[in-house]
Amino acid sequence: MLSELEQLESDALGQLDGISDVDGLEAWRIAYLGSKGRLKAMMPRLKEVSREEKPAVGKRLNEVKKSLETAFEARKSTASSSASVGPTVDVTEPGIGGGGGCRHVLSRTMAEVAEVFARMGFAIAEGPEVEDERHNFTALNIPPEHPARDEIENFYLAGSEGGLKLLRSQTSTVQIRAMEKQKPPLRVTAIGRVYRPDTHDATHYSMFHQIEGLYIDRGVNMVDLKTVLFQFARTYFGEEAEVRMRPGFFPFTEPSAEIDMKMRVKDEWMWVELGGCGMVHPNVLSSAGIDPEEYTGYAFGLGIERIAMRKYGIPDLRWFYDNDARFLRQF
Ligand code: DAH
Repeated sequence: MLSELEQLESDALGQLDGISDVDGLEAWRIAYLGSKGRLKAMMPRLKEVSREEKPAVGKRLNEVKKSLETAFEARKSTASSSASVGPTVDVTEPGIGGGGGCRHVLSRTMAEVAEVFARMGFAIAEGPEVEDERHNFTALNIPPEHPARDEIENFYLAGSEGGLKLLRSQTSTVQIRAMEKQKPPLRVTAIGRVYRPDTHDATHYSMFHQIEGLYIDRGVNMVDLKTVLFQFARTYFGEEAEVRMRPGFFPFTEPSAEIDMKMRVKDEWMWVELGGCGMVHPNVLSSAGIDPEEYTGYAFGLGIERIAMRKYGIPDLRWFYDNDARFLRQF
């Protein structure tokens, strides 16, 4: 009887291995563990066994029963978990598109522009968007009575602790922060948002982006500045890019220049101002603790939106902020 029990166990487990569907499992349970199953049928035969053998056979009977029950439960749980996923997922079915987004054209432009300057040796500098008067004006040689400080030209923050604060109106603030942090030689760009209460039109918005450049070392001059700007224009816009510099005025540079680029606005080619530049004013160097007798430097600030408009032929600056997916998806 012991050998019959062995046989039964190996038959049962062998068969169970090949079953994966719920109906097959139930048939197996009935055949082996059911009230008329093969195991039950062995029970009465315990009577035939001699007294000495009875404990051993009885024990074996129980063991086989346990082993079949355990194997059955294990099989059932894997079959039912695969059954619940199985038929409902058709892996050959084409998926439903997630409608993946794309990078905003301005983020893309900023990354591209930063990369061009990075290749020319400019590191990345950063500064906060909420600034104090010192970094936005005073250290940049903008005197207290200067119209650039006017309330209608800036977003001053009410109730600022520790002195008047404002949303920075230019990334030139980062020039000061970079000079405070690092002694020359210093070559950085800073890209970010600036804020001015301008009326929105095709070329103005109350929030926009600038890239600031600053290079300070011994013997830096205006030719270095012109070279780097022309190099940028040609690298980014192509060899045919037209750029011009004309005299300008900024309190923080002397001499100062405006940078224009020829671009298409509503089917018309015109010179559009991209920003300003110049040689860093000695007062600015001094206010950041750099000796103007020893070091000179140049600085420039360009509008990112205008660069993107020129690069991608976008006629209206407001489109960047309308959030119309039909526009944004094109880039
Ligand atoms: N900060 C100026 C503006 O927002 C732009 C500018 C002009 C930046 C001359 C400079 C510079 O670094 O040298 O209009």
